[in-house]
Amino acid sequence: MNNFTYYSPTRIVFGKGTENQVGELIRKDGGSRVFIVYGGGSAVKSGLLDKVVKSIEEAGLVCTSFGGAKPNPTLAHAEEGRKRSIEFGSDYILGVGGGSVIDTAKAIAHGTANPEPDLWDIWYKRAPITKSLPVACVLTIAAAGSEVSGDAVLTNEEVKKKKGFGTDLNRCRFAVMNPELLFTLPRYQLANGITDIMQHTMERYFIPGPSCEMTDEIAEGLLRTVVRNGRKVMKDQTDYDAMAEIMWCGSLSHSDITELGRGKDFSVHKLGQALGSIYDYTHGATLSAVWGAWATYLYKDCPDRFSRYARKVWGVEEEDDLKAAAEGIRRTVAFYKELGMPTSLKEIGLENPTDEEIHVLAMIASYDKTITVTKIKPVDYEGIKTMFEWAKEGILPED
Ligand code: NZQ
Ligand code: ZN
Repeated sequence: MNNFTYYSPTRIVFGKGTENQVGELIRKDGGSRVFIVYGGGSAVKSGLLDKVVKSIEEAGLVCTSFGGAKPNPTLAHAEEGRKRSIEFGSDYILGVGGGSVIDTAKAIAHGTANPEPDLWDIWYKRAPITKSLPVACVLTIAAAGSEVSGDAVLTNEEVKKKKGFGTDLNRCRFAVMNPELLFTLPRYQLANGITDIMQHTMERYFIPGPSCEMTDEIAEGLLRTVVRNGRKVMKDQTDYDAMAEIMWCGSLSHSDITELGRGKDFSVHKLGQALGSIYDYTHGATLSAVWGAWATYLYKDCPDRFSRYARKVWGVEEEDDLKAAAEGIRRTVAFYKELGMPTSLKEIGLENPTDEEIHVLAMIASYDKTITVTKIKPVDYEGIKTMFEWAKEGILPED
């Protein structure tokens, strides 16, 4: 087991009716002027926003709301939010929504506490920051894990670049998580979330090296739980217990607990973010569209991890490691198909991409040929290009 530091300071307030505690939670944490960030309107339609405002006002605090964060949230919208937040004199930022809303809230928190630099300069660490406003959230979709992560992701539409920014200043002070709030999710968003949760776990799993029994068991248990309960919620979205499992797995999968002693990779996310930089696809779909090709490219270099995954997560009984590994990849992709997720570039909507388009994607994912990806072996621009080529039709290991 490698050395590690585990830091996950977010207070999780989980269960039915917990959104009514928001005001008290903020008051106890010292907030008085609350800037609420929300998305395209689902929180208004469901009545959640009204409930949150009521809870804040009943706690004797004042608030204002800023809507319009869209999936793959933009830098320009976050800059607009920063302006409004400064005008309002916010001392606490609350995201009510999913990863896109929470990431926008995090950006607004940084931008309000540091009014001078452009957010993009903060994002690129050209303008390093040492303070931010407290940020918290009411989560409405199990997916990105932003409620517990130290990351925030924005898209700069002007330069067509989607980029994450990592800092402990991104950690939410609290996350209110009521699984009932997820009952209104569109089915496709639910499936995207399930995919992202699995990927956050797998991005920390396919790393050869040290023995990390506890970490592996947590990851495998989490993946099995997501598959089992993912099937249940796709059948009945109002199955509270199954939704509660999915929601909790969503947070655990990105709270770093599945990487302790092993580390993380996030190469599938690099490929996905390249797709997300240019095309406005849903985040989970950008991952399911490339994962099969990614795994097919790599599994022969890491049969131990891939065969263990196949046996522990999917119950594959094959004794030969390579054959077992291949079967695990096929079953994962079959599960994504069952969820209705795209498993190739063609299925995501990128029919017959040109050589130039594949080149651009590989350039973005390899940071203009300056990095290699994966911890299984260094995969450079050429390798990434091959992965995208294989993802065109969704190439998988043969039987
Ligand atoms: O905008 P509204 O109207 O709220 O609708 C949203 C949106 O259209 C809808 N939705 C959310 N909760 C709902 C609901 N509709 C009905 N009922 C509800 N309860 O779902 C759609 C998707 O929302 P979004 O916030 O985009 O989803 P998600 O949580 O998947 O976030 C995706 C973003 O997070 C980033 C992704 O790149 C993407 O930009 N990520 C952030 C990470 C982080 N901060 O740690 C890590 C992830 O790997 C990821 O990169
Ligand atoms: Zn993700």
